[in-house]
Amino acid sequence: MTQRVLTGITTTGTLHLGNYVGAIRPAIAASREAGVESFFFMADYHALIKCDEPERINRSRLEIAAVWLAAGLDTSRVTFYRQSDIPEIPELTWLLTCITSKGQMNRAHAYKAAVDANVAAGEDPDAGITMGLYSYPILMAADILIFNAHRVPVGKDQVQHIEMARDVAQRFNHQFGKRRPHADAQRRLPPEGVSDQAWGGPAPDQSEEFFVLPEANVEEDVALLPGLDGRKMSKSYDNSIPLFEGGSKGLKDAIARIVTDSRLPGEPKEPEGQALVTIYDAFATPQQRADFRAALRAGLAWGEAKQQLFELIEAEIAPMRARYEALMAHPERIEEILQQGAEKARTIAGPLLARAREAVGLRRFNAVAAQVVDTAKAAKAALPVFKQYREADGQFYFKLVSAEGQVLLQSAAFAGGRDAGQWVARLKREGAAALAEAPVQRGEGVDEAALSAALLALQAADAA
Ligand code: TRP
Repeated sequence: MTQRVLTGITTTGTLHLGNYVGAIRPAIAASREAGVESFFFMADYHALIKCDEPERINRSRLEIAAVWLAAGLDTSRVTFYRQSDIPEIPELTWLLTCITSKGQMNRAHAYKAAVDANVAAGEDPDAGITMGLYSYPILMAADILIFNAHRVPVGKDQVQHIEMARDVAQRFNHQFGKRRPHADAQRRLPPEGVSDQAWGGPAPDQSEEFFVLPEANVEEDVALLPGLDGRKMSKSYDNSIPLFEGGSKGLKDAIARIVTDSRLPGEPKEPEGQALVTIYDAFATPQQRADFRAALRAGLAWGEAKQQLFELIEAEIAPMRARYEALMAHPERIEEILQQGAEKARTIAGPLLARAREAVGLRRFNAVAAQVVDTAKAAKAALPVFKQYREADGQFYFKLVSAEGQVLLQSAAFAGGRDAGQWVARLKREGAAALAEAPVQRGEGVDEAALSAALLALQAADAA
């Protein structure tokens, strides 16, 4: 079975080396594997959560699209699009929002970090926190589930989001899966701190109903590239190495600023734990890694080590940088590629959303009407019936019989069929109110309440 692999990149700012190593490069490599169908997109709806500068949002989308194309994305093999060109994504987001527990979103790292920062600053816990930030994981779940992706290559910091997407998928499958006739009875959400599984998660065979349960693919060694100061490389720490920005000189200058220890040239150096070495590893073969370590232990100067690191990265990046610049000179070409990508993506997203809408009950009325008729037929079949008959004694009788065949009411004998018929008509019309006068008695073992209910059901059906 083909595996669907999906990756999104939030389009704020420009990309740095960490994004390339942690997301773009592994995703492009995975897209070349046999039996893999890949989806790559610009998470520009997510960008709106983090950035309210329209020019920056727009510029960033363009640059990031150009980076992916320059990095070797083959759009004839993969589906490459902007999130905001796929209206099915926000629509699915809403369906998922309605089944996601608030308690789970309270536990999302990004939201929690924002709350903690507010509290530490003595502010209101939710100061400056938008619903966009709060619901971020649900939009991300929709990104993934709308294409039924199996694998999502992400950095370690995103693993929780993929787990949440799995959870949401599982809950949707559980509640709306076709093999669960009594799904409505299961609609209660698990209490705070109780996993879906513990709350009675679906058996594995039921999980495939609507959504595939996605898995995170983390490149363990280098998923979080360190920045210049050794912390995770991140725009917000101002410690990143640009990917193409500033050209080859920009790369060289950034590398020069990587923090090392103060050992002098010729002094033996401990490579492990050095940001410089970890970055080197991300671009090196196993042999190069071993040689670099040996050279540092033998006293290689930090300045020289940085030059080697620069050359190593530049060898991989320079050809891409040239392609990038050519693309940036023709944004209309990028636009065309993305329009085609959106069209391709929507041929999958459209039918899936249609099924999801159907499942939750947002159906076309003709389909609903057919169902109402079905329900009416079923209800009618379950109604008690009056039966009139003549016995061997020549007298006329009637009885009320439940759908299960139990005699609820038995009449006395009537000389004429018309008399019997009139009582039947009156009982149908007036229900239990006519019982006191009617020449009838309750069936064996039938209590008054059951009889009244049966008559009431007949009256209701008659009124309808
Ligand atoms: N949240 C991801 C990030 O910040 C970007 C993203 C959005 C994403 N939607 C996604 C990644 C779906 C993978 C799958 O890196």
